[in-house]
Amino acid sequence: MLELVPKTHDEARQGEAYSPAATDTTTHTKKFYIESYGCQMNFNDSEIVASILQKEGFGATRNYEEADLVLLNTCSIREKAEQTVRKRLTEFRTLKKNNPGMLVGVLGCMAERLKTKFLEEEKLVDMVIGPDAYRTLPSLIEEAETGQKAINVLLSREETYADISPVRLDSNGVTAFVSIMRGCNNMCSFCVVPFTRGRERSRDANSILAEATDLFERGYREVTLLGQNVDSYYWINEAADETVTFAKLLEKVALINPALRIRFSTSHPKDITDEVLFTMAKYDNICKYIHLPVQSGSTRVLQLMNRTYTREWYMKKVDRIKQILPDCALSTDMITGFCTETEEDHQDSLSMMEYARYELAYMFAYSERPGTLAARRYQDDIPEDVKKRRLTEIIAVHRQHSLEGMQKEVGKTRVVLVEGTSKKSEHELYGRTDQNKVVVFPKEHYKKGDYVTVTIHDCTAGTLLGTAVQ
Ligand code: SAH
Ligand code: SF4
Ligand code: F3S
Repeated sequence: MLELVPKTHDEARQGEAYSPAATDTTTHTKKFYIESYGCQMNFNDSEIVASILQKEGFGATRNYEEADLVLLNTCSIREKAEQTVRKRLTEFRTLKKNNPGMLVGVLGCMAERLKTKFLEEEKLVDMVIGPDAYRTLPSLIEEAETGQKAINVLLSREETYADISPVRLDSNGVTAFVSIMRGCNNMCSFCVVPFTRGRERSRDANSILAEATDLFERGYREVTLLGQNVDSYYWINEAADETVTFAKLLEKVALINPALRIRFSTSHPKDITDEVLFTMAKYDNICKYIHLPVQSGSTRVLQLMNRTYTREWYMKKVDRIKQILPDCALSTDMITGFCTETEEDHQDSLSMMEYARYELAYMFAYSERPGTLAARRYQDDIPEDVKKRRLTEIIAVHRQHSLEGMQKEVGKTRVVLVEGTSKKSEHELYGRTDQNKVVVFPKEHYKKGDYVTVTIHDCTAGTLLGTAVQ
């Protein structure tokens, strides 16, 4: 999962690296190279950073050897994510030796977590910039150009970068991320995000609608609304005396055009309301797919994690989703080996996987993060080999479900939004179904951005194979 190859945004998840192509063809005097790690929000932030830098005369490059400015947008979610960045920095050492004028900046969650410590520990780093300080990049670059170390890790209660139009990096021209909120007010005891991203704040709904409308007009056909906890989106439109909840926002985006698909991530199970589910049911262009991280199947562990729901409550939520949206696909995040987790708790997680039968799951061994509630209160007492063994068991169960989910699609006819040409053959296209499953089918006369009705006749573990219905 931690390979350092360029990724498309869709392939990106926590801990992965991604470096963008230069989509910008204008001639710039200076060049920047940016690599993103972590969640989709970080990738979207890199697009905001690209926009800020472009205004300063920087053009994007995919080749870091020709860059005047190298940026790493980092993730702190697990220790391994931080180690990957540290390793990457050592690789940049020779680069900097050969080109002393090149500036190296660290952005994102590691910058926020480690602050000046980063400058002390990693001598080649010139700039450390937290996730709410990207507007100050130009002055920080100026400062660093004089040979001083530059740092801004101030968190904000207001910053949403609402007015900054992201420069789409390595875009397929069909799907895009739109951030709708920043920060997180939940205090899941294992999680570093509230410390690295600060307080939750929602972005002006009008600016979200304007961005999504602009994307649609430029040919994009799918937007993913992003936030650590999208269901707690809440914005007051004083001019219209209107309160915009997440359900209302979804509806507004859905109404932009029926040909614009909408996805969203992430939903905290405690916050997803019936109103959201009914809005999803009402609009065909809101994808029937919910990422609903469970984290554990044991009520006792959930309590220690401070997730604020029980096993039974979560199960009822799953039932409710299936009742209102019978065709809805579910995905999850699961942690194994959290503090004090017993074999019985682990069995509860396995049976939760059986109950929800997730189409997709991101599964992790618990990694203690300094400063979190769990690090302060509980002992990280599950041996590494036990965490790993439990993780392997969870993954095995999930793989089976995921395969069965794919096999169930065979024989069905699905609408696929085409995202591009298949990597394996230029005579085939690939795209996704409403439920987020990848489909590959013969190209014929279809092209990127088309909605194509495809009959599925076969599948592999990760891909459905089909033929377009004329
Ligand atoms: N806001 C999202 C999660 C963001 S972090 C939500 O609440 O669902 C993405 C995932 O990383 C989490 O869902 C969790 O499964 C995992 N994660 C977070 N902290 C972790 C830790 N300390 N160790 C292992 N996995 C962790
Ligand atoms: Fe972390 Fe919990 Fe917030 Fe998600 S909801 S970002 S897991 S604190
Ligand atoms: Fe990582 Fe920060 Fe996202 S810790 S998962 S990049 S919010």
